[in-house]
Amino acid sequence: MKILGIDIGGSALKGAPVDIRTGELLGERFKIETPEVVTPARAARIAAEIARHFRWAGPIGIGFPGVIQGARILTSANLHPKFIGCDGERLFSRATGCAVTLTNDAAAAAVAEMQFGAGRGFAGKTLLLTLGTGIGSSLCYQGTVVPCEFGHLQIRGRSAEWYVSSSARKRRDLSWEEWGAELGDYIRSLERILWPELIIIGGGVSAKSAKFFKFVQPRARMVPAKFLNEAGIVGAALSFRRKG
Ligand code: BGC
Repeated sequence: MKILGIDIGGSALKGAPVDIRTGELLGERFKIETPEVVTPARAARIAAEIARHFRWAGPIGIGFPGVIQGARILTSANLHPKFIGCDGERLFSRATGCAVTLTNDAAAAAVAEMQFGAGRGFAGKTLLLTLGTGIGSSLCYQGTVVPCEFGHLQIRGRSAEWYVSSSARKRRDLSWEEWGAELGDYIRSLERILWPELIIIGGGVSAKSAKFFKFVQPRARMVPAKFLNEAGIVGAALSFRRKG
């Protein structure tokens, strides 16, 4: 019932033990900032440090910002390219000595939000977007979460996340109104093909929803995530899959 959740991000790796019956953290989250480039070997060492910090020997669920198929990492848009093709579960279980399963970070966030957060009790079609360094995405419907890569929808020859992620707002020095309007165009394009009934916006910037939600104007009801920065940790733990 207790699983260590670890969220791998571009600037930090953070983790905490999670009670998977309630979605609550069982200790203060432990965070290691990673200012320089994070290679797979370095990420594995940091994950091991997080496990040691909690004297952990049990199962670990890890959220990773890329496409995961089986145990393998297929993309790494905002982390080191050496992750591509690597057996992530073997990498992290060797380093920690624990059973590890890997989930896409946005799918992990969606699992947390649908079970214990902003989507709790809602079975209709839900689109979750996390706005951070990149854009994470998942579709949820009647209890199933499907990891997606809508952040890589091509706009003017580049991934949408290049224009409308939270870090793009800072890099492009856009006002909340300018960014909110561009984000609105992007979200309405997604709505044209996906028709979600509910849109949940996660990532650190969701705490500032009052500043930009009014400029987005989607068709569906749009709400900020409930877990804010902890969705990745909680969802990674909830997504742990027992094997054998
Ligand atoms: C990755 C996704 C990830 C998202 C948020 C994107 O660049 O391709 O897999 O969910 O960033 O971290």
